[in-house]
Amino acid sequence: MAWENVYHTEALKAPEAGAKVDALVAELGDDAISATADAETDEAVFGNGFSHITVLLHETVDMLAAGPGKLIVDCTLGGGGHTELLLEQGATVWGIDRDPDARRAATLKLARFGSRFKVLAGNFQDVEAILAQQGVSRVDGLLADLGVSSHQLDTASRGFSFREDGPLDMRMDTRAAFSARNLVNEAPEEEIADILWQFGEERASRAIARAIVKARSQAPITTTAQLALVVESVLPRKGRQHPGTRTFQALRIAVNGELDALDSLLDSSVRLLGKGGRMAVITFHSLEDRRVKQFFDLRSRPEIDRPEWPAPRPNPDYCFRLLSRKPVTAGEEELSTNHRSRSAKLRGVEKIV
Ligand SMILES: C[S@@+](CC[C@H](N)C(=O)[O-])C[C@H]1O[C@@H](n2cnc3c(N)ncnc32)[C@H](O)[C@@H]1O
Repeated sequence: MAWENVYHTEALKAPEAGAKVDALVAELGDDAISATADAETDEAVFGNGFSHITVLLHETVDMLAAGPGKLIVDCTLGGGGHTELLLEQGATVWGIDRDPDARRAATLKLARFGSRFKVLAGNFQDVEAILAQQGVSRVDGLLADLGVSSHQLDTASRGFSFREDGPLDMRMDTRAAFSARNLVNEAPEEEIADILWQFGEERASRAIARAIVKARSQAPITTTAQLALVVESVLPRKGRQHPGTRTFQALRIAVNGELDALDSLLDSSVRLLGKGGRMAVITFHSLEDRRVKQFFDLRSRPEIDRPEWPAPRPNPDYCFRLLSRKPVTAGEEELSTNHRSRSAKLRGVEKIV
């Protein structure tokens, strides 16, 4: 197994955690504070390990062509797998994550890079405002490794998974007001059906929404296992994929506003990247990949043409060069060691104006 890409934070007991937090604050200054404040107020979570196998690690980092003197913003810090390699190559990296567990894990893991590494709390849809607060409006690289981390999926209490029972939650930002429990128990049947269809491409969307509304009229649906059972009452198990896969994906995307956030980030990239700056995006399903592909394709054509025009016209949005015509996907070795890499697609661009 290629375990070199796997990282685990130390499992810290509360008294040691306090000392470690103090040391980090001393070392990182204010930048450590959001992560460490979470640690202090939430010691039960702080004691847990954080594990995630980084996908397309070298392919992504190579695409960003980072190095000393470059400022790269990792918009999906997670446990800091990509960020660590970027830092090792000498770049300055600021990592954004909306999940306190991720910020805490990365703060501990990457503190050794000192002032070249900074952790920023927030949603990457606000990346321009987050960077403006740091006095920055131009960067050399942007990275987004979309979706959830293995830590989020595998921690039952985060409520993302139908494999392990937990509270129906699915919030990446554990301080957000709106969870999957609210959505499943409060949204009208038609809205649930639309979400399952649009974000999960679930063909049984209407039947599942009907079953959810029927079940919740008897008792609120409060756990992932309850929801999985409701889905299974409509779609019996057959084959390797769990019948709840598409429903859980759809609800997660809706609860976290994932596609809107991606659209905002892509728009921001045009303004944030200077000439020669690069962006790399890893997607895990077709809804994400389609958006990224279309956004990059439209802006990497010098001219556009329409049947009703006598000749092609200059493209006013032209600003990128594609770094690969086709998406980069995982090689044999990675596929054999990391199941998540199967659906990963990496696309990248360089700003040319
Ligand atoms: C797949 S993981 C990233 C893993 C990371 N590249 C690594 O190698 O460790 C995705 C992370 O992005 C975060 N995330 C997803 N959407 C976000 C958003 N809109 N704003 C900020 N963070 C987000 C999640 O909380 C999660 O920690």
